[in-house]
Amino acid sequence: RVDYAIRPKRLAEYIGQPRVREQLEIFISAARGRDESLDHTLVFGPPGLGKTTLANIIAAEMGVGLKSTSGPVLERAGDLAAMLTNLQPGDVLFIDEIHRLSPVVEEILYPAMEDFQLDIVIGEGPAARSIKLDLPPFTLVGATTRAGLLTSPLRDRFGIVQRLEFYDIEELTEIVARSARLLAVESDREGAREVARRSRGTPRIANRLLRRVRDFAQVRGNGQVDAMIADQALNMLHVDHHGLDHMDRRLLLAMIEKFDGGPVGIDSLAAAIGEERDTIEDVIEPYLIQQGLMMRTARGRVVTRQAWQHFGLVPNEQALDAS
Ligand code: ADE
Repeated sequence: RVDYAIRPKRLAEYIGQPRVREQLEIFISAARGRDESLDHTLVFGPPGLGKTTLANIIAAEMGVGLKSTSGPVLERAGDLAAMLTNLQPGDVLFIDEIHRLSPVVEEILYPAMEDFQLDIVIGEGPAARSIKLDLPPFTLVGATTRAGLLTSPLRDRFGIVQRLEFYDIEELTEIVARSARLLAVESDREGAREVARRSRGTPRIANRLLRRVRDFAQVRGNGQVDAMIADQALNMLHVDHHGLDHMDRRLLLAMIEKFDGGPVGIDSLAAAIGEERDTIEDVIEPYLIQQGLMMRTARGRVVTRQAWQHFGLVPNEQALDAS
C-alpha cells in the first residue's frame, strides 16, 4: 500500500481529533508507567477518519506488536482462538468492523477480554471437550462505524471508547500539506486548502484526491498544485464546490425530486437510489447530516433548506415546516 508512506506513525504526527489525542496520550502514558497493557479500546466513526491508523499508533506508542483482523473474517471460534494464542504479551489485537463478529465468536471474546482466558469447545457431540487456556495480557482495539451497532455486552467490555469526528478544513489542509510533502508533490497552501475543502472532512478522501490532482497538474499543468489546478481537477472528478460527490448528490436529489424533501424512510430511500441501507447510514449520510444538508427525524430523513439551495432549487416550505 502506498498509503503506508503517509500514514502518521506516532501520536505527535497525528493531526486533528484533539480530544482523542489528549486522552490517549494520558491513558498510554499511565499504562506504560505501570508497565501494564493498555485497556481495551473501541474507536468508532465514519470510514476514512483514521481508526486503523490509531490502532497502529497505539501499538507503536505502547512499544508492542499489532495483529490485525476483521469481524467478517473471523467466521468460526477457532479463527479467533488462533489469533489470540498467537499474541505476544502486551500486543494489540486490532479487529476492524467488530460489529460484524458472529455471536459464537463474540462469546469467545468476552472471557478473553475480561480475564485473558480462552474458553473453547473442541469436537462435537459426546466427544466434545471444553478447553481453558491462559492468554497473555493484550489490548483489543475494536473499530466500527457506529458504537450503537455493537451488542451492549461487547461495548461494555471496552475501558476506553473514542469517537472520531469529521476534520475541519484547517486540520485537513494540514493533512494534505503533510501528504504533499511526503509524496513530493509541489503544492501551495491554497492548493492544499482547495483539496481539503472538497474532501468531505475525511483524510482518506483528501489523500486520494491529492493524488488525482497531482496527476492532473502533471499532465495539464506544470506539476504545481495550486488552487486553480485543484479546482479544475476536482470539477473533472465531479466533486462539487461543497465537496459533495456523485453519491451525495444522488441521495439528496432523490429526496428532493422523488419525496419532495421528505420525510422518507431509510429503506424507501435505499430502494430509490439503488444503494444498500448500510452504505447510506454508515458512509453517505453522516457527512450530509454534519453539514446540515439533511436530518434524521422520527418519521424519516428530510433535507434541509440548505440542500434545496445547494441545487439552486426553491424549497418546499410545507415539507420544511412539517419536519
Ligand atoms: N493522514 C491521515 N489521517 C491523518 C491524520 N489524522 N493526521 C495526519 N496524517 C493523516
